[in-house]
Formats: sequence, C-alpha cells, structure tokens
Amino acid sequence: MTTAQANRPRRSALYMPASNAKAVEKARTLDADVIILDLEDAVAPEMKPAAREAAVAAVKAGGFGPREVVIRVNGLDTPWGADDLAAAAEAGPDAVLVPKVNDAADVRLYDQHLSAAPTSTRLWTMIETAKAAFHLWEIAEAAHSTRLSAWVMGVNDFAKEMRARQTPDRAPFLPLLTLSVAAARAHGLMILDGVHNDIEDLAALEAVCVQGVDFGFDGKTLIHPKHLEICNRVFSPSPEDVAWSHAVIAAFNAPENAGKGALRVDGKMAERLHLAQAERLVAVAQAISGRSAQG
Ligand code: COA
Ligand code: MG
Repeated sequence: MTTAQANRPRRSALYMPASNAKAVEKARTLDADVIILDLEDAVAPEMKPAAREAAVAAVKAGGFGPREVVIRVNGLDTPWGADDLAAAAEAGPDAVLVPKVNDAADVRLYDQHLSAAPTSTRLWTMIETAKAAFHLWEIAEAAHSTRLSAWVMGVNDFAKEMRARQTPDRAPFLPLLTLSVAAARAHGLMILDGVHNDIEDLAALEAVCVQGVDFGFDGKTLIHPKHLEICNRVFSPSPEDVAWSHAVIAAFNAPENAGKGALRVDGKMAERLHLAQAERLVAVAQAISGRSAQG
C-alpha cells in the first residue's frame, strides 16, 4: 500500500444489501468513508443473482465521489461465491470483501479468483471464524504475496460460532480483537472493527466506537446511516490530539533540539516514537479534511 492509500480515511464503512436500490442510491450522498455493497448475509437466497447484478451496475455507474466502494461476496463454499467473484472482478470496485477465511490457503484461493480484476481492486477479508482465530499471523502474512490489504472483524459470526454473548463491554472478544490488530499491524494491513447491532442505542454505539479507537482500529463497520456521525467523529483525531501533534513536530524541528531523543512538550514527555505518531496523526487529519472538502 502507498502512504496515501494507508492514510486514506476509513473511519466509517457502511454495509447495505446490494439488493436495496434505495439504500445504494442514498449511499452516494452519505457521509461514509467506505460503502460495502453486500451480497452475503444481508441478502436472501432468492435475491442473490439480482443483488449481484445491482452491485455490478452500481460500481460501473460510479458517482460515489471520495467514498471507497467495496463488494462483499458470498463464500466459495456457497452456490453463489464463484459467480460473485467473477462479477466483482469484472466490475473492479476498490475492494472485494470475502467472508469466513480460515487460513492463508483461503486467502490465496480468493486471490486467484480475482486474478482478472484491475490491480487497483484490493482483497479484504472478514475475520469471523473460530479457525481464523488460530491463523491470524499467516492470514495477515499472505498480504505480501496477494492483493490482501484489509481486515474486517465479523463479530456477529464469531459470536455465533463461539456461542458467546455480545456483552456491552465485549469482554468475550477482547483477545481476538487485540490479536487481530496486532497481526494486521505486523503486516501493514488496515483493520476495521465489527458492527453495532442496536440501531437506536447511540450512547452504546459511542462507547464501542471509543473502545475501537482504544484498540487501534482504523475505523468501524456500520449497519445504519444513523451511526455515521458518531463513528466519524470518534474515529477522527480530536482537535487536542492534532494540536499536540503539531507541537511535538515543531519541538523536534526546532534547531535547539537537534540531536535530542526526548523532549518536554506542554508538560509531557515526547520521544522520537511520539514524533512518528504525531506525523501520522497529522497526515490522517489532513486526509480527513480533504475528504470532507470533497463532499
Ligand atoms: N445503508 C443505506 N441506507 C440505509 C441503511 C443502510 N445500511 N439502513 C437504512 N437506510 C436508509 C433506509 O433506506 C431509509 O431511507 P429513507 O428514509 O429514504 O426511506 C432510512 O435509512 C431509514 O431506515 P430505517 O427505517 O431506520 O431502517 P429499516 O428499519 O428499514 O432497516 C435494517 C433496518 C437493519 C434492515 C437496515 O438498516 C439494513 O439493511 N442495514 C444493513 C444490513 C447489512 O448490510 N448487514 C450486513 C452486514 S452486518
Ligand atoms: Mg459474517
């Protein structure tokens, strides 16, 4: 991934059934960084072929402005997977998101099915199976030899397989979430948190968005436009963080501090590692302002 691609804002990624024409039309004006046209769980079996056609038509029609457009396909172990992948490869969205990968062999298999897609089309995978929990490192490592560039946590499917309860603090999922972020970072992948199922409880949504930022996720997948404002705000660097980052950068650039490894900035210690963090945060904030200016 180039630095510009890596710093591209991906605070919010809104799923919608590709079969829902109204939602797809609306997506072109919604304040989402990423639009995920779903062919999988949100689409009933009898609607699968129509949803596939609608997703391809939407990608070809374009009009999504700065939003990244992703098609989530059905798995290759279903009657629709191979056709979905062929259609998605031909349409050439920003990425194709594939479900239920268990190991690196799965990543390579999906990657082969996308061999006819434009090189700009990336492979994103769901992390949502019990098996994947034990292959995170090798799945992430496959990024070096495939199109893989991002992970999306599928907490609903993981909870289902685990027979786990989705408690408000998400305690049953903390090990998976932490290790997934670690594996993603180790191999340079972008990583998005799972959805919040409760459409109306916005206070709970805000709490899990903050938790997602605390974990280090780049952004969060969402199921309803009502969740966009909170998610975008929480996943944007705060004005205080941006101001602090500028102060750290200025301090390290000051001639009197040349050659120093640690400084006092606004009463706090800043080391060279904080300088790198500050530079990244400012780049992300700038990318977000650029994104907002494009509507
Ligand atoms: N994307 C875009 N627009 C959406 C949307 C979404 N995910 N969810 C709702 N909307 C739109 C509706 O079309 C409606 O538009 P309108 O006011 O122009 O008619 C408006 O937002 C209000 O919708 P609302 O009545 O609150 O939603 P609903 O009760 O009809 O639908 C869901 C609820 C959960 C079925 C719907 O939000 C949805 O399909 N979400 C995505 C599910 C999904 O993709 N899951 C897969 C990954 S987990
Ligand atoms: Mg799933």
